[in-house]
Amino acid sequence: MNFPKNFLFGAASSSYQIEGAWDEDGKGESIWDHFAHIPGKIKNGENGDIACDFYHRYRDDIQLMKEIGLQAFRFSINWPRVIPDGYGKVNIKGLDFYNRLVDELLAAGIKPCVNLYHWELPQTLQNLGGWMNRDCAKWFSEFSSVIADKLGDRVDDWMTLNEPMMSASLGYVLGYHAPGLKKPLQFFKVVHHLLLGHGLSVKAVRAEAPSCKIGIALDLRPVYPESESIKDLQAVKNADALMRRTFLDPIFNGTYPPLFNKQNILARARIKEGDLKIISTPIDYVGINTYSRDKVRYSRWAIGTGFTGPSEKTVDKEYVKDGIQYTAMNWEVYPQCIYEILMMLKKDYGNPDVYVTENGAAFTDTVENNRVHDIKRISYLKDHLTGVKQALDEGSNCKGYFVWSFIDNFEWSEGYCKRFGLIYVDYKTQKRIIKDSGLWYKNLITSNKC
Ligand code: FCB
Repeated sequence: MNFPKNFLFGAASSSYQIEGAWDEDGKGESIWDHFAHIPGKIKNGENGDIACDFYHRYRDDIQLMKEIGLQAFRFSINWPRVIPDGYGKVNIKGLDFYNRLVDELLAAGIKPCVNLYHWELPQTLQNLGGWMNRDCAKWFSEFSSVIADKLGDRVDDWMTLNEPMMSASLGYVLGYHAPGLKKPLQFFKVVHHLLLGHGLSVKAVRAEAPSCKIGIALDLRPVYPESESIKDLQAVKNADALMRRTFLDPIFNGTYPPLFNKQNILARARIKEGDLKIISTPIDYVGINTYSRDKVRYSRWAIGTGFTGPSEKTVDKEYVKDGIQYTAMNWEVYPQCIYEILMMLKKDYGNPDVYVTENGAAFTDTVENNRVHDIKRISYLKDHLTGVKQALDEGSNCKGYFVWSFIDNFEWSEGYCKRFGLIYVDYKTQKRIIKDSGLWYKNLITSNKC
């Protein structure tokens, strides 16, 4: 099964999850530094202070990427590393890190794909309300300009935000993620400001790097009902509007779905004239982060969607129930998920260019004689790539695929126990081992087929 000739195979990461060096070289505090340091917020009291120590080890890690044959590496910029207070003075040492990282990737023949926001808001801005404050959109676009000005001569591929739905729901409604707030009435306001920030950032990056390609990474999953009851079927419609159309409609069509408008009265998110025009500034592609599907049931909470967020119930390890495999994140393995999302984008949003910006699985890994035989991860990746191929055959404009993740890392509120990497990390020694899935991926990239 061959992929198109220019199809891009990469792997993804994010700054807080891998970099460490949380207070080095003039870096400011991010909401994740702050949140993870509060006792009880993260499993086993862990935090990202050191993580994979990528800040110091990036050169060696890029050699490992090269060994796997990665064609592209998606990474994010830690905002307070570059602008410690969120706006104003630039920390040259922080900016220089990303400058060196880009040069090193290019020297290794790996395409750098920059994601501007993977949830690390400067804590100083959170103290001013974070994304509940409309000014945050403006500060984000200023930050985007600084980065594009520095890297835009060498970086062609950009993303504004990673999963704004997760920032708003896990961060501001459920409180599982930084900033850890439980303010459901602020949800739509936060979403609107994030999207406004996205639109302004697209313009800011293009102003500095006119020939670049820029998009956004959205978490999109097919939605299914838990039962055939009328209420659950209605919940599917609501969840679809809330989790997908609330982001896709304004970006592609310049409108919010009716459900958003109804709730918005409650949320008092002041949508100003011209906002939707900014939000719908044309993008070059949409990134999709897709791992599974959602099964929803009606509930009076969360606008009748039954949506309670992916971290609702955590488990220690993967398991099989009723013949269905679940990962160590308690996520159902549903290999058609990417195919279904790609087809939905084709049907409902004019078949835009798409990159699968994240897909992968956490399974329990064990080291045997310096090897990690992660067969379940290989079959997960293979089955999902089969879905990508099927969508391509049916006319999808999918242009590339990024495994989550390049390396085992800090999995947010779950800490270090959930391993997603193509590369295994022994966190005590920081020793790396390329897993069998990494070797399998290398073979796939070389042969261009799976
Ligand atoms: C996504 C996040 C990413 C990682 C994966 C497992 O929602 O974008 O950082 O945690 O889930």
